[in-house]
Amino acid sequence: MRSLLGGASVSTNLNSPFRTKSVEQSIRDTEEPEHALRKSLSAWDLTVFGVGVIIGTGIFVLTGIAARNNAGPATALAFVVSGVVCALAALCYAEFASTVPVAGSAYTFAYASIGELPAWIIGWDLVLEFALGTAVVAVGWSGYVRHLMHTNLGWDLPAALSGPDVPGGHFDLLAFVLVLALTAILVVGTKLSARITAIVVAIKLIVVMLVIVAGLFFIKADNYSPFIPAAQPQPGGSGWKAPLVQLMFGYQPTNFGVMGIFTAASLVFFAFIGFDVVATAAEETKNPQRDMPRGILGSLLICTVLYVAVTVVVTGMQSYEQMSPSAPLAEAFKSVDQPFFSGAISLGASVGLITVCMILLLGQTRVFFAMSRDGLLPRVFSVTHPKYRTPYRATLLLGVIIAVVAGFTSLEKLAELVNIGTLFAFVVVALGVIVLRRTRPDLHRAFRTPWVPVVPILSIAASFWLMLNLPAETWLRFGIWMVIGFFVYFLYSRRNSRLGQSGRDAEY
Ligand code: ALA
Repeated sequence: MRSLLGGASVSTNLNSPFRTKSVEQSIRDTEEPEHALRKSLSAWDLTVFGVGVIIGTGIFVLTGIAARNNAGPATALAFVVSGVVCALAALCYAEFASTVPVAGSAYTFAYASIGELPAWIIGWDLVLEFALGTAVVAVGWSGYVRHLMHTNLGWDLPAALSGPDVPGGHFDLLAFVLVLALTAILVVGTKLSARITAIVVAIKLIVVMLVIVAGLFFIKADNYSPFIPAAQPQPGGSGWKAPLVQLMFGYQPTNFGVMGIFTAASLVFFAFIGFDVVATAAEETKNPQRDMPRGILGSLLICTVLYVAVTVVVTGMQSYEQMSPSAPLAEAFKSVDQPFFSGAISLGASVGLITVCMILLLGQTRVFFAMSRDGLLPRVFSVTHPKYRTPYRATLLLGVIIAVVAGFTSLEKLAELVNIGTLFAFVVVALGVIVLRRTRPDLHRAFRTPWVPVVPILSIAASFWLMLNLPAETWLRFGIWMVIGFFVYFLYSRRNSRLGQSGRDAEY
């Protein structure tokens, strides 16, 4: 068994759902020519890649919703809370990504540490995170583009093709077309898309800096008072729509107040999603041991600072009660009679959201690719293209499905579902750090999470706390998705797993 699995010690027997794939085996799989991805990314590429996906719908849209409904000017504190949760998770992600440098993010890490079933659960969960995240951002992008066309050119798409969020709308044509176009770019190759990403990231950063610097001149101190608005009963909030933590402890669900900061934090958490996606590109990184931690922590730090600054500025420019739920940054400038800045911000946001969508889609296809390579999903999806060296089948299949979801689905509920899925992944990764330190203390770790197990335990507690602040209905939807996942695992993946098959071969 040792030789089959690359000479590494294997902690469980190969018929168990907790069988683990050795780290050496994970790395060797990436070297099979048919299933290999091109190694071309540097620490700089990864940071650009990270910032490219992190800054998006979260800061451009959700800031307004959180300020208006949950936390007022204290939304800046909500970003700090979410940033701390993500930093704890990032310290765990960085250790894993620098130890197990193969495609698939938390899925791969879990397979090498806690076992196949937990890995399957996390992979299934990441499919949800990335697919729905892509759809959410595509729909957000479509809204900005329609807004720009309407205000600058006087053009309007027919309502029927403007998406289900618009009265009389059925299908979001722009979101659908965007996802298909990005799918085509990803099939052609990562390097091309990384180049496009770099240009768009620059545009996005200019827009964010513009908001911070130009906005400073329009701040009115009155808008910060009260900084933490007093708690108010949530309208109709005693049912499924209330945060689970409020229902669990049996108190009247409220908005605003100190608890409102945590509700806002669980929503604006979406704005940080993406640093974990950097980890999915480990296999395509030239020197993952050194570059991964730099890419992950660097992009997270840059974004946290920018988010807090943007939120402080826009909640100072406009009363939180007046903030727009769809284009708050652009509307804040409109409210102080600055239409030029307002238009420039809308344009930059429309361009910026394209990269977010593309990188989420890339992360999605890489997780699917890794699961297929392990036999947990059909192997045909992990054969790479002979010329482009990309997992083109998985990319095409998922791209078409996500385009349809983006075309027909409203975004708000999806965003909450994305958040719960991602936070759950953080919990599994932090657990994995603790487990792998015990089972494989010998492995070289280019980056070591400090104070293990204290930091991973804090990361688990913090992620779980944000999950508890999401609505009960989000928990229900997430539960249903995971139950479906269990069925697929026990009916297909368990029998077709390459690791399981190697165990059966060894018995004969
Ligand atoms: N963090 C990304 C966004 O805010 C997903 O759009």
